[in-house]
Amino acid sequence: MIITIPQLDQLETAAQAFLKATHQASGVYAFYGDMGAGKTTFIKAICEAMGVEDVVNSPTFAIINEYSKPSGEPVYHFDFYRLKHSGEAFDLGCDDYFTSGYSCFIEWPEKIGPYLPSDCTRVDIRLLPDGGRSVEFNPTGLQPSGQAHFSE
Ligand SMILES: Nc1ncnc2c1ncn2[C@@H]1O[C@H](COP(=O)(O)OP(=O)(O)OP(=O)(O)O)[C@@H](O)[C@H]1O
Ligand SMILES: [Mg+2]
Repeated sequence: MIITIPQLDQLETAAQAFLKATHQASGVYAFYGDMGAGKTTFIKAICEAMGVEDVVNSPTFAIINEYSKPSGEPVYHFDFYRLKHSGEAFDLGCDDYFTSGYSCFIEWPEKIGPYLPSDCTRVDIRLLPDGGRSVEFNPTGLQPSGQAHFSE
């Protein structure tokens, strides 16, 4: 499935469509895309569409950011760009987050190599020639290539 975000004022609608397609995005989502593609922007919009309020005023961005849904349930947002080696993900206890059952949104998943769960959903964000963005994912957990990827 591809959701197109022509410009920033369409972010909220796009985030709602993503949540609807992914059944409220519970589970682990790996966001791939070049620097500046719009990963952080879209993840924050998804969190806001989930009702998270602390996402907008988080002062600094750490490797692991924890937000709260109105229900009190946590949402985890990871940015692994600055990891020097994948083992740091293990040291940070990432597996506990990934297996928690709570929503996990990951930027730069390629940096954690073997520590990325094999059953996560891949999301590809791309800059379009007109400045908009496309968000490609398979809501059933199948990879865009069509290769089965869910172990359920
Ligand atoms: N859908 C969009 N439409 C227009 N501009 C966008 C959109 N998404 C993001 N941008 C703009 O692109 C810039 C980079 O976005 P963002 O920081 O989300 O990218 P990123 O993929 O997280 O980059 P990085 O790999 O550095 O973390 C920001 O200035 C943002 O406003
Ligand atoms: Mg980012």
